[in-house]
Amino acid sequence: MRRKVIAGNWKMNMLPNEAIKFIEEFAPLVKDTKAEVILCVPYIDLFYALLNAQETNIKIGAQNMHFEESGAYTGEVSGKMLKSIGVEYVIIGHSERRQYFAETDETVNKKIKAAFEYGLKPIVCVGENLEQREKGVTEEIITKQTELALDGLSKDQVKNTIIAYEPIWAIGTGKTATSEDANNSVKAIREKIAKLYGKEVAEEVIIQYGGSVKSSNAAELFSTSDIDGGLVGGASLKPEEFAKIVNYDK
Ligand code: 13P
Repeated sequence: MRRKVIAGNWKMNMLPNEAIKFIEEFAPLVKDTKAEVILCVPYIDLFYALLNAQETNIKIGAQNMHFEESGAYTGEVSGKMLKSIGVEYVIIGHSERRQYFAETDETVNKKIKAAFEYGLKPIVCVGENLEQREKGVTEEIITKQTELALDGLSKDQVKNTIIAYEPIWAIGTGKTATSEDANNSVKAIREKIAKLYGKEVAEEVIIQYGGSVKSSNAAELFSTSDIDGGLVGGASLKPEEFAKIVNYDK
């Protein structure tokens, strides 16, 4: 059986002192969970988060990276840099980066390859917008995004990629996909991976759901056949609420 992976995406929130306080409060609340717990924090919090999460079961991730190793890319941070301080995960291709920062399927693919090159585990976001959903092309969009993101990866790399299905219309809106709908989309992604990389690979890939996950809907979403946990935005900013999500099965 696949493990559950529950990741918080703090987006552009939390100062270092707030990150430290969060981890102090959050760590004891999730110490007994079977799920893998990840906090994806702003760059300036990474070092503090890593130090304070030592000797806990909390893993630390970044929210973006550049695909080059180093060079004249003002304001960017490379996978090599993230790895050098002990970061383990990195979110790639979040819809906010696709929407506001010109992230494309091509740069997403390059970043995933670079993440593996430097020993980071990518959490890759795919998802349809409202217009696409209303047109009935959700499956087409998310399976194409998945195919382009994973293009050229080895089977082993695909197995170690976490995919986060995040319908854009559900992010930060309070609107959640029904668990049935979300599970069907996740299944479609898994079927696409099976077609491209084989059933055995597809059965191992962790596919999360993201979009207005909270403690009141986490259990239902995470108990479906194909959803392997969540990528949580707003609700991951409060230690007690996020701990309830992590402990959804208790
Ligand atoms: P919310 O949980 O705030 O809807 O955000 C979801 C998200 O974008 C996580 O990456």
